Amino acid sequence: MNTTLLISQEPQNHSPEASVKQQINKMIDDLMASLPDIQDLTGAERRGIIARYTTVLEGNFIYWMTATLLAVQSEDARPILLDNLHEEVHDSHPAMMRRFAMAANAFPTDGDALVVHDDLTNVRLFLGKLSGVQSVLTMAFFEGFIQRFMAYLADLARAQGSVDLEYTDVHGVCDIAHTDGLFRALSVEMTINPLDQKEDLFEGVYLLRTLIENIVFNRVESLTA
Ligand SMILES: [Fe+2]
Repeated sequence: MNTTLLISQEPQNHSPEASVKQQINKMIDDLMASLPDIQDLTGAERRGIIARYTTVLEGNFIYWMTATLLAVQSEDARPILLDNLHEEVHDSHPAMMRRFAMAANAFPTDGDALVVHDDLTNVRLFLGKLSGVQSVLTMAFFEGFIQRFMAYLADLARAQGSVDLEYTDVHGVCDIAHTDGLFRALSVEMTINPLDQKEDLFEGVYLLRTLIENIVFNRVESLTA
């Protein structure tokens, strides 16, 4: 009897989490479809994308995952975030990120950091609100995007003459499990610590999407060009 009930409840396509996951996947699909063709980019443009990505990821990913760990109230969500952090620290993903950028002759300059400064600050301040559901969703979007972006980032690095692709190799694989884990964490956090209906569930996702668009398109430079 219980088994029948479980089976009949198995398809959860109409659950709030499934709907949110679909929206996130659509946003990632749209971002991927908007990426410029690598053949059309100059060497300086390729270097800029890698450098801006690095200046955001190297110093902020672990910080933002830690902020999300501090924000969640669900005991079931914490091990998922801790597992992610453990891998980041144990395998020193920031060191891997820096090696990747240096091998592609794309080590970030002060100019690269300043291009993303405002959008980066907005994401930092948002995560400082320590809003559990919003923060987990933001990081699920981030992990999902990173995983999909890796093949493109690797192609940029290859076009720069790099052969050090450990960062893109590792993240194209491990982040599949991380993204699924974050959506599980989202589901439990939505139950234990639901978001106030007055708040926008996607607030952090939109801020992060703006930052990613700036990494890819360098809006500051194109505005002043
Ligand atoms: Fe990582």
